[in-house]
Amino acid sequence: MSASIKTCQKYLLQFANEHVDFRTAELTALANLYGTTLKEDNLLHHNIKSPFLEVEFASEHLAKKIAGRSVLIKSLYELWSSGSSYEELNRKLKHLPAYLIAPYLKQDQTFRIQVDGYNKKLVQTDKVRKIEDLPLDFKGKVQLKEPDNSFHLLEYYGSVGEQPPDNPYAVYFGRWLADGQRDRIGQYHLQKRHFIGNTSMDAGLSMLMSNMGQVQRSRLVFDPFVGTGSLLVACAHHGGYVAGADIDYLLLHAKGKPSRHNQKKRASDESVRANLQQYGLSQYYIDILVADSSKQSLWRTSQLFDAIITDPPYGIREGAKKIGAENEDCYLTEEDKDGHVPQRINYQLSDIFKDLLNFAAKYLRQNGRLVYWFPVYIPDYREENIPTHPYLKLVSNCEQRLTAKVARRLVTMEKIMNDTGGEINEASIAIDHYEDASFRQKYFQPNRPTPNTSNSSLIRKTEK
Ligand SMILES: C[S@@+](CC[C@H](N)C(=O)[O-])C[C@H]1O[C@@H](n2cnc3c(N)ncnc32)[C@H](O)[C@@H]1O
Repeated sequence: MSASIKTCQKYLLQFANEHVDFRTAELTALANLYGTTLKEDNLLHHNIKSPFLEVEFASEHLAKKIAGRSVLIKSLYELWSSGSSYEELNRKLKHLPAYLIAPYLKQDQTFRIQVDGYNKKLVQTDKVRKIEDLPLDFKGKVQLKEPDNSFHLLEYYGSVGEQPPDNPYAVYFGRWLADGQRDRIGQYHLQKRHFIGNTSMDAGLSMLMSNMGQVQRSRLVFDPFVGTGSLLVACAHHGGYVAGADIDYLLLHAKGKPSRHNQKKRASDESVRANLQQYGLSQYYIDILVADSSKQSLWRTSQLFDAIITDPPYGIREGAKKIGAENEDCYLTEEDKDGHVPQRINYQLSDIFKDLLNFAAKYLRQNGRLVYWFPVYIPDYREENIPTHPYLKLVSNCEQRLTAKVARRLVTMEKIMNDTGGEINEASIAIDHYEDASFRQKYFQPNRPTPNTSNSSLIRKTEK
């Protein structure tokens, strides 16, 4: 198709039927990554129950770039018409400027038209009738496999599981342009991953986090609670150079218990590096440190990282730990230090998050992003629970429900200023979500709904 054709600049996105709360956050992050902003109107009028969203982009190239990086977008279409009825859809189609559509209707252009109902199975004869009723004069030949142009007539009958009405709530007609990155979820699925643990993050959410962190070629990404490195795999896939730290020596050195039920012992080559090798991403691996991320003086240079992307410990399976001494008076002589295994003390969840924000405020470059999960007990959650820092601006805060009462929130922040060496600025939490009881205690309350005790099993269930 000639590049000189002017497009109508209206596009239709069809999202996958999951992670509804994250759709516009991911879209906005990607639009921003590629140097554009979405019109607020586009997002305000979005019915979150519907997988369809009409948006405007400056060019087809830009629209394809954004959709081609998204894990939540299923498909992108150039929108020719939409309406709440077929009369409206067809009326608008009739009035489309000829210069916009003529190139695709020409004799030398093969085409196909696909009709799909969302939340309703359509009868073949109805589909054919709807195609025949379209007021478009296709002169080319129908070709079902790899046509020049693929058109889609999409009908929305409400959310999956709802009783569908006789007529659709909305209908759309568009020219298919691209699919999102849904197939990456299968390509990077944890089932086929060399090194996994109980809390490995599923491939889709890891990609989503990398998108929220706007990771791209040559960016430097750090995960201070790296575990098996699932987040780094996604970031490396997007071209970021990756490094991490974890306090668990046994996990990082493949000496701990395996998490696959059919595996007795970990293989000696299980490591984050091996995971990257598995996907041909070794060139993006920097290193992993066995280190306590609460000890920040390890890092000498500030403004080091482009993105900090992490899933801190929630303390569900066991309480989070950091290095320290219960008895502050105890000290070690120089001789004692040799071969000494440092004592671990409990690491309060609120402290983990405050430390994380302080770390990000110092070690992110200006405009760098911090992306992390914040676990919440839904009945007690309020926005004031999310930690703040004067150098970090909240970009988005999206919920993923795990059970009826437990969720985790994906928080994205952007560094807006650097330390000027004046007053000390620290992270704070207006209302401490974990003050009265730890998340673990709340999670295991007797009246809670049937739990999925392992994070990973909860997470893997959402993987498509
Ligand atoms: C939820 S898991 C992260 C899982 C990881 N995203 C993955 O894909 O495997 C949290 C990790 O934080 C580590 N951790 C706990 N306390 C720590 C600390 N003080 N410093 C560094 N790592 C810590 C745990 O060993 C665990 O591997």
